[in-house]
Amino acid sequence: MARKKHDDGPAIPVPVASGASDLSSPTREVAPVERGSERAWQAALRPQNFDDYIGQRDLIENLKISVRAAKQNGWPLDHFLFAGPPGLGKTTLAHVIANELGVNLHVTSGPAIDHKGMLASLLTSLGEGDALFIDEIHRLTPIVEENLYPAMEDFKFDLFIGDGPHAKAVTMQLPRFTLLGATTRMGLLSAPLLDRFGFHWQLRYYELADMKSIVLRSAGLIKITIDDAGATEIAKRSRGTPRIANRLLRRVRDFAAVEGNGNINGKIAASSLDRLAVDHAGLDSLDRGYLSVVCERFDGGPVGIEAIAASLSEERGTLEDVVEPFLLQTGFITRTPRGRVATAAAYSHLGLNAPAKAPTGGTTGGQGRLF
Ligand code: ADE
Repeated sequence: MARKKHDDGPAIPVPVASGASDLSSPTREVAPVERGSERAWQAALRPQNFDDYIGQRDLIENLKISVRAAKQNGWPLDHFLFAGPPGLGKTTLAHVIANELGVNLHVTSGPAIDHKGMLASLLTSLGEGDALFIDEIHRLTPIVEENLYPAMEDFKFDLFIGDGPHAKAVTMQLPRFTLLGATTRMGLLSAPLLDRFGFHWQLRYYELADMKSIVLRSAGLIKITIDDAGATEIAKRSRGTPRIANRLLRRVRDFAAVEGNGNINGKIAASSLDRLAVDHAGLDSLDRGYLSVVCERFDGGPVGIEAIAASLSEERGTLEDVVEPFLLQTGFITRTPRGRVATAAAYSHLGLNAPAKAPTGGTTGGQGRLF
């Protein structure tokens, strides 16, 4: 049942010259991507600039203004923080921003910066104006976080050289850089860290029309023939998440190649996704397992997250970061101070009779707010 929380694999501090990667070339070759990992596949489909980016329109409009102002005036771009469930495009946005600014993007993650020296080496390897992307920034240690503050505020870093009574404090001047932070849990960020970002944005699940455009764009890039019904079917079952849409597109493409003529239509997409256990609402076996535990084992709740995690032998963090945001958004569960509660829509989705006490799930009833 284990679902990977992050599909991009462990983030390591690799400086990436924007525009220099062969995957970012506007004329993409199919073959290298086909041989590559899921990560390479997702990276190849990533939009490279604001005009390619589908969805999150308000955010993109705001970013365009800030990037244009920074370029016109020679300012470094302010530090920005993006929050939201995995797969909604936080890493992609960092690449797009760096590309639009014409600077290098250095990519790392909170857990990878496990001591102050690591942070020092990252910051001192930045070039003037570069962007540093820290994924899972809520997982920085307190010491690393404290040392990030002067770097963010004044582009300074305090180092101690030597040990004991002979240790000497040295303040290093860093290049002016932009920190792009990403988190799945805005609530876990400390107030002092939040305060040092010039801009926070909560990414939303994508609307169906945008998801469909993303599927069609990706299919075009990798030269898959897909009709409107096929794109709609994949879009509907991708839980408003581009990364999932791109992954399902690849799986459906496999079914179409083996069992059809390689082209994707609505029927092939629906039957492939059924067999992949992704249902018409986009729920997979972990989501349904979650709902079934709440409805059947805990009589609809309220039930605490620890009890649900133990019943599923799943990590609490995965349920909180990956599973619950979508179930809440689509109205299958609600959260109360006493725990999670299944709505009537959850019972109906599982083909069960809802008890009278089950809430309706507000205006959403299982799909409303998204699709
Ligand atoms: N691929 C993944 N996310 C995308 C997006 N927001 N727009 C276009 N293509 C994408």
